[in-house]
Amino acid sequence: MKQVTLKIKPERRLSHINREIYGHFSEHLGRCIYNGLYVGEHSPIPNRNGVRTDIIEALRRIRIPVLRWPGGCFADEYHWKDGIGEKSLRKKMVNTNWGGVTEDNSFGTHEFMNLCEELGCEPYIAGNVGSGTVRELAEWVEYMTFDGESPMADLRRKNGREQPWKLKYLGIGNENWGCGGNMRPEYYSDLYKQYQTFCKNYSGNTLYKVACGPSGEDYNWMRVLLENVKPWHTNAVSLHYYTVPTGDWSHKGAATVFSDDEYYSTISGTLFMDEILTKHTAIMDELDPGNKIGLIVDEWGCWYDVEEGTHPGFLYQQNTMRDAIVAAINLNLFNAHSRRVVMANIAQTVNVLQAIILTEGERMLLTPTYHVFDLFKEHQDAECMESELNGFDRSGTPMISCSVSEKDGALLITVSNADLTEEAELTVDLGGFPAAQAEGMMLTAPDPRAFNSFDEPERVKPVPCSAVLSGGTAAIRLPACSVVSLRLRRS
Ligand code: AHR
Repeated sequence: MKQVTLKIKPERRLSHINREIYGHFSEHLGRCIYNGLYVGEHSPIPNRNGVRTDIIEALRRIRIPVLRWPGGCFADEYHWKDGIGEKSLRKKMVNTNWGGVTEDNSFGTHEFMNLCEELGCEPYIAGNVGSGTVRELAEWVEYMTFDGESPMADLRRKNGREQPWKLKYLGIGNENWGCGGNMRPEYYSDLYKQYQTFCKNYSGNTLYKVACGPSGEDYNWMRVLLENVKPWHTNAVSLHYYTVPTGDWSHKGAATVFSDDEYYSTISGTLFMDEILTKHTAIMDELDPGNKIGLIVDEWGCWYDVEEGTHPGFLYQQNTMRDAIVAAINLNLFNAHSRRVVMANIAQTVNVLQAIILTEGERMLLTPTYHVFDLFKEHQDAECMESELNGFDRSGTPMISCSVSEKDGALLITVSNADLTEEAELTVDLGGFPAAQAEGMMLTAPDPRAFNSFDEPERVKPVPCSAVLSGGTAAIRLPACSVVSLRLRRS
């Protein structure tokens, strides 16, 4: 058994962990919205205003803080006026990015904003820059947030919503270096400044504007953007980084069938997030030394080849214990980088990519990734603490990832052990924290390929585990391929 130590420094607070780091993303893609979270008001599946009740409850349980919508690539071809008013009269469109299917726009602004109210989370709207207009985006903001008499506010009232909604997060474009218009950073920066000028704060609503940032390690995009876009133009910059096990987009690897080597390359590919965040943060520190502009990782997760027999444009993939480890590593990294990283959104909520929920007809299951969000939820709005980890490596790749935070006088320690054969014992030096109660939860499986199926939906789920408190330390077992959370309370 490997011996792993962690030394906590309770007096050294690193940064506040915004709850939005535990955010989600749902796009008009495959079965994420339609036949996923949205089944329509007339469905026999229990729903509230067309959204599945079981999904609403599951998202509330993990305290979903923010939901990004309507894309993704879809955002830059979405015209919001097609998605309001009487449903049977709504204009249809072709979803050119995702399978060329017909989009009937039955899930639009009202459905999304009401869903966020129902969930108690912040909406995060991604606006259309690639094929839209400044006026279109400006009017969308007016439609959603203006309280007085105006063409857009009156239209909203005509469509049944008297009071404006609160809208904080507004993304101005998505992947404008690619599907959002194939732009150069110089061109996008100018366009960004133009668009954001006309997105106004109405009726006490204050927008938090997000500029489209780079893909992965495109440091040039970040530099050029921040040389042109200043804190008075933007509140944050986005970043997208996906883990592709093989590193080859034309053959990404399967979700449930993979070799141990492919498993370990998934882990090292995920840990690359640390380098990306560190290097982007260094550029941001240079060009925004006041730390006024946040970094939002608004798309992250594993991207595999689609499940056999499913639509190639729908990006449906299963989710195993490997995904749980990937989620734990990423979330621990976001905590560690939370001085700059103010939000993150896993891609995507239901039935797409690293989904936390899968559905099939009336059946629904929670994936191993969902359970990681559950184990980590007390990090939301906690203070990240400095700690010193002595883990172990496999061929140079660190196998242990962890983070520690404090909230309401309690500590939360979240740890993952990525190694497939080595069990470890973790001994935590509490640095004087007077722990009197320890509550451990563990997610593990005998095989990293284990997943929850509709016939066996609870194969991978968290179980309680015990920790031993003695002489200022806490000790807990980390099985091979596991995610563990340990909550410590004072007497
Ligand atoms: O999440 C799927 C797609 O990945 C998004 O639409 C796009 O932004 C990214 O390339």
